[in-house]
Amino acid sequence: MVTALTIAIPKGRISQELVPILRKIGIEPEPAFFDENSRQLQFACVNSPVSLIRVRSFDIATFVAFGAAHIGIAGLDVLMEFNYSDLYTPLNMNIGHCRLSLAQPVDLPEQDLARISHLRIATKYPHITSDYFAKLGIQAECIKLNGAMELAPKLGLANHIVDLVSSGATLKANGLKETKVIAEISSRLIVNRAAFKTRSGEMGELIEAFRTAVKEAA
Ligand code: PRP
Repeated sequence: MVTALTIAIPKGRISQELVPILRKIGIEPEPAFFDENSRQLQFACVNSPVSLIRVRSFDIATFVAFGAAHIGIAGLDVLMEFNYSDLYTPLNMNIGHCRLSLAQPVDLPEQDLARISHLRIATKYPHITSDYFAKLGIQAECIKLNGAMELAPKLGLANHIVDLVSSGATLKANGLKETKVIAEISSRLIVNRAAFKTRSGEMGELIEAFRTAVKEAA
């Protein structure tokens, strides 16, 4: 039996930007998808055979890389951090725009990156962070956190953080400022390479439908 194509959708704010694109290509999730009280994680679509799963944005690439979902929408931050070779990334979705940045307390003197050899950084992105600073000749000692990074400087865990910045409101509310942009981020359509080989017809059509919808939304 051929299973329905499964698309992994991130939880949170991207979901709001994504729904209009899904609708444009004729994917209308069942009502439970929009019910904030629902604990359901897998959803049928009312007018399409595809199935949706809703997972943490940080886990999307893992679900797709291991073939648990055929297609997904993942931030470039997650793709850079995990660097899975089993993923094909055919399309920039032009949503979820933000930056991955280095930040520090506003009242701490800014360090000259050309003159230091070590930085302690709280982050959810230890691979991106250590690679980035290694290229600058700096050894980044990363303290891995999964959220609330912005608390780390205040509590003496690390003077610097590397995290996503969108409006800058979270940094501001926690007495921090952005000092370096490490990468410009947006969401990408990702595809499991093995699944694409065996189901290239239907997956190719879906990718093209996403491409057209993203172009029209621009
Ligand atoms: C992200 C990020 C920051 C915040 C930045 O967290 O980790 O905390 O957004 O956004 P801002 O610049 O607009 O304030 P998110 O809300 O996505 O939740 P998360 O911590 O679960 O990733």
